[in-house]
This record gives sequence, C-alpha cells and structure tokens, in this order.
Amino acid sequence: MTKLFSPIQLGPLHLVNRLAYAPMDTHFGTADGYLGPGQIEFYAERAAGGVGFITVEVNFINDRAKVWQAAEGGVLDIGDDSHISDLAKLRTAIREANPDVKVSVQISHVGKYGPGIRQVPSAINPPLYDPCLVMEEMTGDDIEGVIEEYVSAARRVMMAGYDALTLHGAHGLLIQQFMSPYTNKRTDEYGKDRLLFARRIIERTRAAIGHGMALIMRVSGDEFLEEVGITDGYTIHDMCKMAPELVAAGLDAIDVSAATVDNFYWTTPSGYFKKGAFMHLARAIKGVVNVPVMGVGRVNTGAFAHQMIDEEWCDILCLGRALLADPHFPLKIKEDRAEDIRNCIACNTCIASAFEKVKVCCAINPALGREKEYTIRPKAASRRKKVMVVGGGPGGMEAALNLKLRGHEVHLFEKEPQLGGQLRIACIPPGKSELRLLMAYQTKQLEKAGVDVCLSTCVDENLIRDISPDVMVLAAGAVPWRPVIEGINSPTVVMADDVLLDRVQLGKNVVVIGGELVGCEVAHYIASKAKTKITMMRRHESMATKIEPLTRFILLRKLQAEGVNFMSCVQYNRITENGVHVTHTKECREEIIEADTVVLATGTVPNTKIIQMAQGKTKEQLYIIGDNLAPRTIKAAIHEGAHVGRQI
Ligand SMILES: Cc1cc2nc3c(=O)[nH]c(=O)nc-3n(C[C@H](O)[C@H](O)[C@H](O)COP(=O)(O)O)c2cc1C
Ligand code: SF4
Repeated sequence: MTKLFSPIQLGPLHLVNRLAYAPMDTHFGTADGYLGPGQIEFYAERAAGGVGFITVEVNFINDRAKVWQAAEGGVLDIGDDSHISDLAKLRTAIREANPDVKVSVQISHVGKYGPGIRQVPSAINPPLYDPCLVMEEMTGDDIEGVIEEYVSAARRVMMAGYDALTLHGAHGLLIQQFMSPYTNKRTDEYGKDRLLFARRIIERTRAAIGHGMALIMRVSGDEFLEEVGITDGYTIHDMCKMAPELVAAGLDAIDVSAATVDNFYWTTPSGYFKKGAFMHLARAIKGVVNVPVMGVGRVNTGAFAHQMIDEEWCDILCLGRALLADPHFPLKIKEDRAEDIRNCIACNTCIASAFEKVKVCCAINPALGREKEYTIRPKAASRRKKVMVVGGGPGGMEAALNLKLRGHEVHLFEKEPQLGGQLRIACIPPGKSELRLLMAYQTKQLEKAGVDVCLSTCVDENLIRDISPDVMVLAAGAVPWRPVIEGINSPTVVMADDVLLDRVQLGKNVVVIGGELVGCEVAHYIASKAKTKITMMRRHESMATKIEPLTRFILLRKLQAEGVNFMSCVQYNRITENGVHVTHTKECREEIIEADTVVLATGTVPNTKIIQMAQGKTKEQLYIIGDNLAPRTIKAAIHEGAHVGRQI
C-alpha cells in the first residue's frame, strides 16, 4: 500500500487515507443560508470519489459574520438551531455515498470582509478591494459574544452528527485578523496577546464538543502581504511560533493555507504559482507541532499527490480544485488510472464565480453542480445516430466523447495533424502549461472510447456527402479578426498565434495591438523569450477586462515587472515602417509608437465558412458550439460540448 492510501489518526478519528476534500464555498445554498438544490449531490459525488476526509464549506456563525450576499444561490449559515437538520441530512448523504469518509464542517466569521458595518479587532484597514467599507472595533462584550457564537455553532455541528469541526482561522478572516499585527492594533488583552481570541475559541469549543470530535483550525501559514505593500503582516516564522500555542489550546490538527482576502490571488494559486504552492508552509509547521498537519495548494496530479505525502511535506493532503475538476481523483490515483483524471488547469474560473457571487462552476467539468443530471457515465441514447463532429478542440472533443459514450456512431474531423484546437496554442505562454494535461486527457478519453478521429482532414461538401451524417456538431472554432487599419497588411504585422508558434522573427521593438487575454499572454511570452521593448495598446480604457480577477491581477503585475508599456484609449491611424501611428483619444494627441514588429491580438470571429457549407446537409439537426458559435472561453466550449453530447 502506498503512503497516500495508508490510514492516519486525526485526533479521535481513523482516516482511511491521506486525501482530504478542502473546504470550498459553492454558493449552492439558499438566500437564507440553508442547503440549496444540488448541494447534497455535490458532496455525495466527492465522497464517492474516495477521499478519506471532507471539510464541508464555510458556514457563517451569524448574519454579521457573513461574506457578501450572493447574487445567485447563497452562503451557508449556522447561526441558529434551524440549520441543524439540513447539516444532518448532508452528513447522512455523505455517509451513504462513502461509509468510510470522516466529515468536518468549517465555521467562520469574516470580520472586515463583507457588506455593512464590519466587526473587526481594530477599525483601521478596510479591505483593499473596498476601502469604503465601515469598520467597527469590537468591544470586549462583542468579542465575548462572538466567541459564544463560535461555540454555539460548534455544538450545532456536533448535534448534526459530524466527526470534526474546522475553525476558519485563515485567509485573513476574523480569527486571523486578531492574530495579525496588520489588523490587530488593540491595546487591551486581545492586542497584547494576539492569539488570545483564537485560543479562547479553541478552548471553549473543545469544552463544548468534548474529545469525541476532532478539532481543526485552518490557518494561513504566511500572510504574504509585503507583495501588496503591507509590511506588518505575519510570516511563516511568526506562524511557527503561534502554531504550537494553538495546538496546546486543544487542536487535533492544523490545516495550512495562505494569505488574506487583501491578496486574494494567493489563496487559490493560478498557473503562475508553482505546484504545491503552500506545502513549504505546511512542512515548516509540521516541524514545530505534534499533531497531523494538512497541506494544500495546487496539487492536480496523482504523481504529485504521492510525492507530497512520500516526501513528508504534510501528513494529510487537502485537495480543492482538483476535486471540483474531478471528484473521483482519489479513486483514479488509487487504481493507477492517471490518464483518466480530468486534471484541474488552475484557470480559477471556479473562484471567479465566487467573486461574482454566483454558484461555483468548473471550466472543464460541466457536471459540477449537475451531479444528478450529468452522471459521470452518460446514459445510453434512445436511438443510435451517425454524428459528424467538425473540430477537435476542447468543445468538439467533449461533444464527441459524450456522444460516443451514449452509444452514437461518432466521426470527429480535425484539420490539424493533432487534436487540441486552440489549446495547442493557449498552452504555450508562461503559466499555461496545465492546458497540456487537458489536451492529453481529452485525447486519451476519445481513444479509449473508440471515437473515429480523422486528423489532417479539412471537411468539405464531398466529405459530408460521403459520411451522410444524421447530425453534425460544428466546433470548428474561430478565425483571427484583422481590424481595418492602413498598413495592416505590411510585412512587419504578424498574428499573435504565429508569434506563440515561433513562426515569425520578432524585432527588438514590438507593439501588441489588443489588450485582452491573448494580447497579455503574447506580450508575456515575448518578454519571457528575449529582452524586447513591448508596448501593448488598445482602444478601450482598461487592459484585460475580460480576464477573471485573480489571473488579471497577477498577469498585469507580471507584465509591469517585465517593463511592458500599457497604452489605452488609442485610435490606430496607420502602420508604417516607423511603427504604429496613433491618436490618444482622451488628449486628442497624435504619436508614432516605434515598432519593427506589430503583433495583432485583436480577437477572433466565428468560422462561418464551415457553417455555410454544412447548412442543409444533415438528415436531422446541425449544432454549433464553442468559438464556432461565438468566440469565448474554454468553459463555454466544453460546457456546450457536454450539453450537446447529452442532448442528441
Ligand atoms: C470556489 C472556491 C471556494 C473556496 N472556499 C473556501 C472556503 O469556504 N473556505 C476555505 O477555507 N477555503 C476556501 N477555498 C480555498 C480552498 O479550500 C483551497 O485552499 C484552495 O483552493 C487551494 O487549494 P487547491 O489548489 O487544491 O484548489 C475555496 C477555493 C475555491 C476554488
Ligand atoms: S475552474 Fe479551472 S481552476 Fe477551477 S477547478 Fe475547474 S479547472 Fe480547476
């Protein structure tokens, strides 16, 4: 037996393996904080996937403790006894899905991060994302009241039949706000001893729940606040002193995450972070405490999961997004089926939905939140049809796989000699290599399912006539759009894709026209290859407005660090051998931006040629999905592919 699948004792609990589901707010709840549609099935699916431990997402201990009011769904509440029966139902469903799994509930108060007047240790530093929030320093009575609310919430978790309780002391929320010199400037006992608030919660919670339940605290091992210009946050050295005190107060384990909501891009590390992003923090804390340490942070392959446990980076490995992308990740590792894992690509579409206050979704797992409706192995189709799928990108592959699994005769045509579509190029810029895992997964699944894949094949009318499909799915993507600018066809003007594929020779002075994802990524790629003067320009006011906020923040910072010059609100007049002639529209000022290469990252338009050709050529329906319908994201392509794949 490998160490990852060996049992471990967590306080009073015997865990069957070292893999844990990390707490993740789904926004699947109701507006008043009860379980919402699909929430039980969501957890049951993850339990069935073989984890040894689950921490149910954050439950807020009172109304003022809550993060924002969701725009869609809701966050869970545990502020009164009416929530016990829902939690108990969830526990029962998880047990039915996997009798071995042990389950905890995370409870929290967000302190300064939330709407309305905020309860905080010191009314000094509102969140960076909203400096207008009103902070209210907690009095001694307020603190006493909140500690009691933690204890009452803990009792409710116990009454609902859970095995463990997790106190959310991480991500800059209230408990951490008391621990941190950045947020706690009090002069009373809670300021002189910044751990007192946490210790009192632990001690009183322990007294309330006894020793039959495990008590865990999730902490941020390091606040990493210097990165946003804050110098009085705490570091891992400080946490290594605090952790033994927290354990001595009554913890059975420490779960080590990182950062705060003020530097939110750390907490769910994107592809720009190294794998195992916070494991060094877990290992440091492991060295100073005598209870199991849980580690987390960008673990998305079986090999890496084994490595984290074998090399003793942590005792229990928490998986967040890996289990959103593939709830059966643990079973697949155990059965040595790495090729069947739908590896998380660290795109952060999931956490972006939390920031947009809507229900969580996964770009590459359309079944998330539709566990009942979208079973892992789709149901057999009512009538076998001959389906022609045009385009072997993520959407076409997803559609073809589901259609085949449902029993249709599927023929997939791809004009390139390799599957992947736009993913082949999207995986090239720095930080995007995880997309290769997605391509490999989809390609392998098509092969295993026995889909007839024809590469290097352009679909034309003759081919459609020969195949004579009942149904066609057009997933042929989009083609680059060239704006009308004088000189756009000159030899110094190249396309972003050609740059990424190293098909063109770049000069030393590059202008990138277009300021969305492709523009940013191609600029990042150029900067990573050679010392080049790069100017990114666009017509609109801000750069990268369509990129989810975590990736946007870090990508723009990286570009700034590389010395990329951003130029917004420009009108392109013409391109000459001297460069790009622009008018700064705000100042009505003309300028020539010198360039020996001009890279076009000006977006794409659907491939309409294939649509016109295919229209009227099928016996039944014609479906158009992904960028072929309208250029959008990987999520749109895969979700539409999955939908069509289940619809036909
Ligand atoms: C959609 C989403 C919601 C999250 N909600 C919570 C939460 O409620 N409580 C918490 O402690 N961490 C939360 N996290 C952080 C995860 O538990 C985890 O620490 C983080 O995603 C890094 O692990 P990973 O790289 O395995 O995803 C959330 C993460 C995501 C993606
Ligand atoms: S949305 Fe992206 S980051 Fe989130 S779980 Fe899915 S693949 Fe991973």
